[in-house]
Amino acid sequence: MSKGRLLSGMQPTGMLHLGNLEGALANWVKLQDEYEAFYFVADWHAMTTMYDKTDLVKKYRREVATDFLAAGLDPNKCAIFVQSDIMEHAELHVLFSMVTPVSWLERVPTYKEKQEQLHLETVSYGLLGYPVLQAADILIYKASVVPVGQDQLPHLELSREIGRRFNWLYGEIFPDCKAMLTKYAAMPGLDGRKMSKSYDNAIYIADTSEQTVEKVRMMFTDPLKIRKNDPGHPEGCAVYGMMDVYGQADMHDDCTAGRIGCVECKMRLAKFLNERLAPIRERRAQLEQHPEQLDEILAAGAEKARKVARETLGEVRRVMNFD
Ligand code: TRP
Ligand code: SF4
Repeated sequence: MSKGRLLSGMQPTGMLHLGNLEGALANWVKLQDEYEAFYFVADWHAMTTMYDKTDLVKKYRREVATDFLAAGLDPNKCAIFVQSDIMEHAELHVLFSMVTPVSWLERVPTYKEKQEQLHLETVSYGLLGYPVLQAADILIYKASVVPVGQDQLPHLELSREIGRRFNWLYGEIFPDCKAMLTKYAAMPGLDGRKMSKSYDNAIYIADTSEQTVEKVRMMFTDPLKIRKNDPGHPEGCAVYGMMDVYGQADMHDDCTAGRIGCVECKMRLAKFLNERLAPIRERRAQLEQHPEQLDEILAAGAEKARKVARETLGEVRRVMNFD
């Protein structure tokens, strides 16, 4: 009993970390039972910022797909594929680019932010067109539901606008798509800021349990709590924040009363994380031992996706007189 078609993607710009896992992937795993789901590695999107690091895109393309499967995405329940395996996304992107005003793209906040933050040598045409490609990703599957983070809302709004403009120009082909926001407390990183690969403060799915223990041991806590019986302030403490995301923050009163020390508290967190990640890491290790399995899964996922994408593109060509 499917509630409709759902699609989401992640850029292979790095290894996936706990923030990606708990903020997105774990939710995707649940949704694969409720929707006809399509999940993909957005490797062309990664090229907007990593065009000079194609070797890394090549590496992360596989690593991210491996993390998808390790986290519990099941190729029997959903389509798991790589964007660049479906050439149809590119064709629809070209056609969409003809009906997308540049002014719509220039006012997308993520474009302005990336322009400033990344201090890229040049801002490419591809970066400006990022949301047009994303619209093609979504609309080619006629997905109605797109689980994404808050930061993606402007892209979703643009996808809707491109779909509407296309329908108005050529005829009703694309359904309305909407973002599915899951409320979720942001995962703090090792330094207390939001977990992000660019802050170098992340625990990765692919880290070993020893690496996890070591990273947790180095985490920021309350600087005023030096000895176990010093009263602590869990509110500003990243260890506490991480436990809180997992609903495991029962050390609050022991911390403020000086009944627990940071060393013990961190040991609890590391133990919890390693238990949470153990089955995921085990699946990951198995997949790494049999790289041909990943190839097969991605080929089968691409086949499922391509079938739908071709159908939509056929309709698009017809109404645009390209058939
Ligand atoms: N822009 C998304 C991100 O950075 C990735 C993405 C690409 C995507 N295409 C998509 C997400 C289509 C949802 C639907 O997170
Ligand atoms: Fe943070 Fe735990 Fe130390 Fe309190 S005891 S400051 S919650 S690490």
